[in-house]
This record gives sequence, C-alpha cells and structure tokens, in this order.
Amino acid sequence: MVLGANGMLGRDLMKVLHSSLPSDQVVGWDIEEIDIQKKDESVTKIEKVRPEIVIHIAAYTDVDGCELNKEKAFSVNGEGTKHVALAASECNAKMVYLSTDYVFDGDKREPYVESDAPHPLSVYGHSKLQGEQYVQTFVKDFLIVRTQWLYGPFGKNFVSSVLRQAREKNTLSIVDDQTGSPTYTVDLSRAISSLIQSDAQGIFHVANSGLCTWYTLGQTVLKLSGLSRVKVIPISSRELGRPAVRPSYSVLGCQKFQEETGLTMRPWSEALKDFLSKDRQRPS
Ligand SMILES: NC(=O)c1ccc[n+]([C@@H]2O[C@H](COP(=O)([O-])OP(=O)(O)OC[C@H]3O[C@@H](n4cnc5c(N)ncnc54)[C@H](OP(=O)(O)O)[C@@H]3O)[C@@H](O)[C@H]2O)c1
Repeated sequence: MVLGANGMLGRDLMKVLHSSLPSDQVVGWDIEEIDIQKKDESVTKIEKVRPEIVIHIAAYTDVDGCELNKEKAFSVNGEGTKHVALAASECNAKMVYLSTDYVFDGDKREPYVESDAPHPLSVYGHSKLQGEQYVQTFVKDFLIVRTQWLYGPFGKNFVSSVLRQAREKNTLSIVDDQTGSPTYTVDLSRAISSLIQSDAQGIFHVANSGLCTWYTLGQTVLKLSGLSRVKVIPISSRELGRPAVRPSYSVLGCQKFQEETGLTMRPWSEALKDFLSKDRQRPS
C-alpha cells in the first residue's frame, strides 16, 4: 500500500511497483481516498486492506507553507504519520516512511550519516522528525528513507520551475549558499524498491551521488536544455528571504544503502541528463 500515490514521488513509485508486482497486489491511495489526519477513519480503512507493507510518502511538503501553518504541518507530518504507524502495527505490516535531509541543521560540512543527531531548523523538518519518532515508537519492522532535493516528471519541483521561468525571463536569481544532492524520483523509487526487496530495516539515506548548490543545479539545467542564453545570478538565502530556514549543507552519505543493496546511486548530473532527455520527448 502506497499512501501519497498521486504525489511527485508517488507516481513514479507506483510505476516501479507495478513493473515488478501483479497489479492486484499494489494499492495506491492519496488524499481522495484517505485523510491521514483523521485517526479512526485512517486506521479503519488501512486495517480493512491489511497490507503487508505500507509505504507512507503522503506529507505536507510545502516547506515555507509549513512555517506559516505549523498546526497543519504537525497534524499531517507528525500526527498523520502516527495514525499510519498505528494502523501498520495493527496489521503487523512493515512500514516504510519517507523523511528528509531537513532533519539536519547543516553545520556538519560533510555528508550526514544515519547515526548523526538530527537538529531541524524549520517547522517542516521538525514535523517530519516527529513522524520518524512515531514510526520508531509504534512499528516493529520499519524502514525510514531520508532523501533530498527531489525532481521528476510529476509535480512542482526546482528543475521544472527553472525551465518554466527560463521561458518567461532572461535572468534568474538562484541561491548559492545551500549545498545538497539533487535526486531523481525514478532513481529513488528503484532504490526504495531494492531496500524493500532486501527487507532492510532501520534508517537509510538515499540520494543521487555528488553535490552542488541550487545555483549550480539551475545553471546545469539551463545548459543541458540549450537555454544558456538565460543569465543566472547567484544570491544568498537571506536575499531570497523565504520564511523557512534551510540547512546550508545537507548532503546525505549513502554508504549504508550501498552495503545493504549492493547498488550505487548514479551521479546527480547523469540522472538529470536522463530526466531532461525524457522530458523533451513528453508532450507539453
Ligand atoms: N520533494 C522533496 O524534495 C522531498 C525531499 C525529501 C523528502 N521528501 C519526502 O518524500 C515524500 C514524497 O514527497 P513528494 O515531493 O512526492 O510530495 P508531494 O508531491 O507533495 O506528494 C505528497 C502527497 O501527499 C498528499 N497528502 C497531503 N496531505 C495528505 C493527507 N492529510 N492525507 C493523505 N494524503 C495527503 C498530497 O496531496 P495534495 O497534493 O493534495 O496535498 C500529495 O499527493 C514526502 O514524505 C516528503 O516529505 C520530499
């Protein structure tokens, strides 16, 4: 069972699961089928299906929105996750929970490993960490996958936003003081599937390899898309003035994932090239 199946990651994950499992063994729900904020309704609905594995990727993912609507952030990402965890536990199901690099503060300056102490800077980060804690408290067989900087064919993301803005403007201002690893939702979906197949338990960091700033990512998107005429100006997070504070460095070390699955996540620039070449073939 996938909760959040219509989101950016959910739609790719559903495709990956459908490619390896009979269609009647995969159930994908989103807000139309279940509101995870409602405890009794969520638990009852999930229990009726009695899934063997619950992959919980539904979330309130608007990082700045969370800062302005703290109550909703904790209600969906914290309490909502608790309700899913209680239901998973009732069904004796394995629970997979998607979490974020924003549980870290960015002060480490080298890749974060799974045993590093979280210290979120934003409401979103705090609420996702609360979700992690509920999963660890209520579910015996759990898998927490922390990832970062997602983009893909479905939903709003940085890469699609750069491409859209490049059609309308000659100059883009992009922050150059946050470093991370852009991650392709198709690669992440395959990685989640591999972790489930190896029956991994505990916390795992998964992201495409290599690192960059949003500024470098923006420049690379434009270059690979033949839009080098658009000028990119590096700015600071302070200049951008977003409500939520982001970690200035949140690269995730993925060694544990490699050891568990024998797989290595490809470099972000390679994945991006792949995505953009497929994106060009998609009808707009
Ligand atoms: N995007 C990133 O860069 C990133 C980075 C690190 C971790 N993650 C984590 O990865 C997971 C997937 O992210 P994503 O970017 O694919 O998110 P997304 O596109 O926002 O998808 C999340 C889905 O959850 C649904 N949802 C929201 N509130 C719900 C509720 N109360 N009950 C049931 N469903 C609800 C959303 O519906 P609506 O759209 O109608 O609200 C949406 O379809 C999330 O857990 C996120 O925290 C994402």
